[in-house]
Amino acid sequence: MTMRKISDLNKQDLIGKYVLLRDDFNVQIVDGKITDSFRIDKSVPTINYLKENGARVVICAHLGRPKGEYNKNLSLQIVADYMNIPFVHDCLEKDFLHGMKNGDVVLLENLRFYDGEEKNEDDFAKKLSQGFDLYVNDGFAVSHRKAASVSGITKYLPSFAGMLLVQEIENLTNIMQHPKRPLLVFVGGGKVSTKLRLLKRLVTIADKLVIGGAMGTTFNYARGYNVGNSLYEPDMKQDALDIINMAQENNCELYFPLDKGVGKSFSSDEIRINKSIDNIDDDDVIMDDGDKTISRNAELLKDAKTVIWNGPFGVTEWGEKWGKASFEFAKTLAQYTREHKIESIVGGGDSVSVLNVCDIMQDINYVSTGGGAFLEFIQGDILPGIDALVENNIELDL
Ligand code: 3PG
Repeated sequence: MTMRKISDLNKQDLIGKYVLLRDDFNVQIVDGKITDSFRIDKSVPTINYLKENGARVVICAHLGRPKGEYNKNLSLQIVADYMNIPFVHDCLEKDFLHGMKNGDVVLLENLRFYDGEEKNEDDFAKKLSQGFDLYVNDGFAVSHRKAASVSGITKYLPSFAGMLLVQEIENLTNIMQHPKRPLLVFVGGGKVSTKLRLLKRLVTIADKLVIGGAMGTTFNYARGYNVGNSLYEPDMKQDALDIINMAQENNCELYFPLDKGVGKSFSSDEIRINKSIDNIDDDDVIMDDGDKTISRNAELLKDAKTVIWNGPFGVTEWGEKWGKASFEFAKTLAQYTREHKIESIVGGGDSVSVLNVCDIMQDINYVSTGGGAFLEFIQGDILPGIDALVENNIELDL
C-alpha cells in the first residue's frame, strides 16, 4: 500500500502552495463553548508544518449533521475563534485565496451545509478543489465516511496524508498486529448492534474480552438474567449468543457485568443501589456497572500487557454517581500505564471524555481521535478516506 505523506514532500515544494487541509473539528459544544478541544489540538502539528514551510493553508471540516442546510448553531466560526484564525463564511468561496500570503491559515465554513459533501457528489468535490495545488487529509476521525472532502476530492488534486492521519494508522496498526500479550479489550457503550462486527473481530484477537455497560446488559439478558426496565436490545439475543460461541472457539475469555448500579427510573437523581445480576427486579433501571464488577475489572488489569478501551460502562455524562465504573476503570488504567505495567489505547468520544474529566489523558499511551473511524479501523475495515489516498498519483505541479 502506498500513501504519500506530507513529510515525503521536499519542504521547498510547499512554498506558496495552496493546500486544502481536511481536519475533523466535530467537537463537543455546550452553551456556545467548546468543551473538548482534543481533536482541534491534535490537528496543530500538521497545520504548523504546512504553515512553517510556506504553504497557504485552507482548512475544511464539518460540525454535526446539518443535512445540507445552513444552521447557525453548527457554524465552524466558534472553532476559528478558538484557533484565532480567519474564517470564510462559505466553503466554496474562492475570492479570498488571492489575498493569502505564504504561511497564512484560514478555516472554511461547515462543509455539510452543502448536501454534496455527505453525498460525495463529484460536482461538489470538483468545486471544492478549485484554486488548490494539493490536498491533505488529516481528519482520521471522518475517514470512515465516503464524503466529497474525504474521498471524492482525491480525484482532482495530488493528495497526501497529514501527520495525525499517519500517526493514527501507525499506532492502531501496530497495536492490532503486534500487541504485547495478554491483550485485554474492554468494550462498553449502548448498543451491541453498532459493535457487532467489532465484537466478532475482537474475539479472534483478544485474550480476554470484557463487555460492560448497556452492551453487557444485553449479553446478560441473552444469558438468561432479568434486566428489569433497562436499556438493552432484545433483538440481539442470538447475536450475543453467537459471539459467546465464537469466543469459545477462539479461546478468548469473555467477562460480563457481575452486578449493576440501579435506580427506579432513568434519571441522574435516583439513589444508586448496587444489585447482583441475579437479583434485578422488573422495575429496576440499570445505569452503571456495579461495585463487584469494578473490582473484578481492576483485578483483570493486573495481568494485562495491552489494554484497549472503547465505550463507557454507565451514564458517564451524569458524573461520578452513574459514571463510577468508567471513572474507576479509567483511573486504574492510567495508573498501571504510568507504572509501565500496561500499554493502553483508548478510542471513542465518551471514553475520551472520561479521560478528560479525570485529567488522565496524558497518562494513556495512545488516545485516538476517532469514534466510528476508530471502531471501523480496529475491526479491520478499509476506511474510504485512507483508501482514496492509496495509489493517488496525481503529480504535484512544481
Ligand atoms: C465523528 O465525530 O465520529 C466524525 O466526525 C464523523 O461524524 P459523523 O458520524 O456525523 O459522520
